[in-house]
Amino acid sequence: MQREFLDFNTMKRSEINHLLTESKVGSEVLVKAWVRTKRGSKNVAFIALNDGSTINNIQVVVDVESSDASVLDKITTGACIAVNGTLVESQGSGQKVEIESKSIEVLGEAHPDEYPLQPKKHSLEFLREIAHLRFRTNTFSAISRIRHAMIFGIHEFFNNKGFYNIHTPIITGSDAEGAGETFRVTNFDLKNVPLAEDGEIDYKKDFFGKETNLTVSGQLEAELAAMALGKVYTFGPTFRAENSNTTRHLAEFWMIEPEVAFADLDENMDLGEELLKYLINYALKNCADDLAFLDKRLVDEEKNKKAEERSPMALIEKLQFVGENDFVRLSYTDAIDILRNSKPNKKKKFQYLIDGWGADLQSEHERFLVEKHFKKPVILFDYPKDIKAFYMRQNEDEKTVRAMDILFPGIGEIVGGSQREERMEKLTQRMKEMNVPEDELWWYMDSRKFGTAPQSGFGLGFERLVLFVTGMANIRDVIPFPRTPKNAEF
Ligand code: 4AD
Ligand code: MG
Repeated sequence: MQREFLDFNTMKRSEINHLLTESKVGSEVLVKAWVRTKRGSKNVAFIALNDGSTINNIQVVVDVESSDASVLDKITTGACIAVNGTLVESQGSGQKVEIESKSIEVLGEAHPDEYPLQPKKHSLEFLREIAHLRFRTNTFSAISRIRHAMIFGIHEFFNNKGFYNIHTPIITGSDAEGAGETFRVTNFDLKNVPLAEDGEIDYKKDFFGKETNLTVSGQLEAELAAMALGKVYTFGPTFRAENSNTTRHLAEFWMIEPEVAFADLDENMDLGEELLKYLINYALKNCADDLAFLDKRLVDEEKNKKAEERSPMALIEKLQFVGENDFVRLSYTDAIDILRNSKPNKKKKFQYLIDGWGADLQSEHERFLVEKHFKKPVILFDYPKDIKAFYMRQNEDEKTVRAMDILFPGIGEIVGGSQREERMEKLTQRMKEMNVPEDELWWYMDSRKFGTAPQSGFGLGFERLVLFVTGMANIRDVIPFPRTPKNAEF
């Protein structure tokens, strides 16, 4: 990932990233940035500045005697300042270069009595309450940069492989997953909703002339594009009104959904595994400073945990491990056998005990397989048809469908996908069984009617990926402004 620095050689602004890595000692520089800390003595003040271009701060050294005391007083944590000075070799340890200040202008004060961020460790819960300011913390700025790198890496991966990026609609009339967890979209006056003669809401009078909702997935539309363009992917926001207040669920999250014509489930699993490894290695290569910071942060956090709760690997080690090793592939049926005979099942330690074939797997089961049993990412395939969506290809056994989920340590399901049911009769039969309205999905059915072909795809939850790569524990901490039940602040 090649990135340019702002640097105009003249007395225009330089970014800290550039100053720390490439600028010449002795040059005159101008930096504009936010104060992280100020400390010092009667004679000299040290200001740590950060402008977001890197996790690292640059130190500014100020001669107190020759400076305006009223300006120095305004330089407090959170204030924004512009510093003119000379880049010199640092006399202290901890940094190679620093800025010897000549003049400082305060661009924006941050009154210490009011500014909520102090140069100390704040809890992540507290930071969520001030999400508008948490970009200014090391942790959240590191996560933001990694999030960006992952977005970039995703587009790079698919572009390199000849996929086309498709924008699928955000407002739709369908519930692709059939889970009934959609957010309504309407511009009705809610105090005066028009009713039809039968007493039902008259959606014909609504903005779109029909019932609409925010999309839960771009898959159905992506399938249509794949049936002409061959290989496509979406990367868009998705919305789910599931009332699950967990550390892995958001009501608004981003999803990457590739869809490949002529691909079977094995090729689908290959693509998913390759994508995840690519992105993990991409982060290791392009986000080394931020990952080193988060790695250390996690080591510190773990010190407060009981030995048995500590993760077996540090963050970077874990990423290297997953980036290098093959994922386990296992059928749902084999997984059920392992789970049924597992210690936590026999000792009734699972909240949901596994007693037979057909049960939906809970996060505790997925994590047992990945973290305790195989100690590796696991791809489960061929799930019971009754716990999966209508569009998945039915197997000969009439019990299972060609579904696959990729399960990750600390996360559980990170990817969900399938080979699609391309046979019209099988698809309509399944839609009838599952009460999926055929008339509303006439356009989807047309793809089976005209030039149908085998095809496969999956959805990667973007925040779950960022959760894994950053080693954070709560999905609310890897998206700038999380949307969860009872929470849509900012
Ligand atoms: O397994 P899901 O529901 O699959 C689909 O939506 C398919 N249409 C995908 C496809 O085949 N094109 O969701 C896919 C992934 C999950 O594996 C998970 O990583 C993420 O999306 N996900 C969520 N992430 C955060 N918050 C939620 N509420 C999520 N629900 C699903
Ligand atoms: Mg799923």
